[in-house]
Amino acid sequence: MIILAIETSCDETSVAVVRAQGGLKIPKFKVLANIVLSQIKTHAKWGGVVPSLAKREHAKNLIPILEKALKQSKLFANSKSQITNYKQISNSKLKILNKILSREPELLKQFLEFMPKIKTPKINAIAVTVGPGLEPALWVGINFAKALSLVWNKPIIAVNHMEGHIAAVLLQNSGIFNFQFPISKQIPNSKFKIPKIRFPAVALLVSGGHTELVLIKNWLDYKIIGETRDDAAGECFDKAARMLGLPYPGGPAVATAAKAGPNHKSQITNYKSKQEIRLPRPMIDSNDYDFSFSGLKTAVLYLLKDLEKKVSKKSDRLKLTPFICKELQQAIIAVLIVKTLRAAKEFKAKTIILGGGVVANKELRKQMKLAVSKNLPTSNLQLPTSIFSTDNAAMIAAAGYLHALKDDCAKPDKLKAQGNLTFK
Ligand code: KG4
Ligand code: ZN
Repeated sequence: MIILAIETSCDETSVAVVRAQGGLKIPKFKVLANIVLSQIKTHAKWGGVVPSLAKREHAKNLIPILEKALKQSKLFANSKSQITNYKQISNSKLKILNKILSREPELLKQFLEFMPKIKTPKINAIAVTVGPGLEPALWVGINFAKALSLVWNKPIIAVNHMEGHIAAVLLQNSGIFNFQFPISKQIPNSKFKIPKIRFPAVALLVSGGHTELVLIKNWLDYKIIGETRDDAAGECFDKAARMLGLPYPGGPAVATAAKAGPNHKSQITNYKSKQEIRLPRPMIDSNDYDFSFSGLKTAVLYLLKDLEKKVSKKSDRLKLTPFICKELQQAIIAVLIVKTLRAAKEFKAKTIILGGGVVANKELRKQMKLAVSKNLPTSNLQLPTSIFSTDNAAMIAAAGYLHALKDDCAKPDKLKAQGNLTFK
């Protein structure tokens, strides 16, 4: 089965084409194309994602990204009749299309120009993220999926973005196509490992909007056992980075600055020692699986205020940034590891899955690997390949396939954006 997937829940516009086979026991995937266009530059000057700008960028970029994905997966073919304008789409369909894309006039215009030029690609279904995320952004992807479904006559599968982050581990080492590298560097016919996911599994999902622990009894059977009571871990990285004068998104910026720490050791002058740079590990000892990161962000603010009083020169204060970043990163990592291991132990998890943008953090990956091998050697840790950690449509295709195996298709008329969608 070939799935075309669309992801527009936040600030990445992505279209993927994924070949899938096998049953729910051992689903196998090959990523034929995974085109991701980040809007970071658009949002960076605002210090965070602006929903109306995200919606506009998705609408502008979906057709070019679709074209790229179809070409890369070799599913692109010019229409034989070389129909070059929308008048060839039947009147009744045209009427519906105008309605579906009425809120995205730019996308509608590009759609009507592009679609008659190409043959219906050999795909079996269209998977699309319906939530959670920013509703204006989600709607663009959903309406695009509806329009494609109408013209191509293909079923739609509605996908929960967080399930996508879980399913991302199924994509590891798959696919010889990787949009980030030149084709010449790809190894043809590379063997790809099929990850063994044994249940029950516990998943730690850490992204910009979510931090949650999910008990997975089987594919499609998810239960949240703990979640953040306020800010998500990624949000804490992003907000603290802003206070520190680092660019958006804060996670990678803090991680890079933290690496610079030891080199600056000798330069700490007025502030007594780096031992003073100490941040709390919120809820690390609480008897549940919940998290709270807003206090940690506030602690960074107080630390900076204290520094302002004690270290008069700004240039001296800036030399401490790497230490603050290191401590912030470590505080977040420590809480995430302790809670995940505790949950895995209690629920006798055979597999521990990590998912979400924060899993791109190398320190978290390294320390989690160490902690699992030391404390839970019989559990198998599954980490998504870095490119599948942050938002992408290939993971939406993978989650979509799990639903396709149960014939779980959506009724296009009933599809809607669900900003706060959660596991039932
Ligand atoms: O999953 P994701 O791409 O988008 C959402 O669904 O939110 O996650 C984005 C989050 C941002 O908060 C970003 O700062 C964080 O992931 N992130 C990182 C790293 N790369 C991205 N956090 C820590 N270290 C990183 N290397
Ligand atoms: Zn995400």
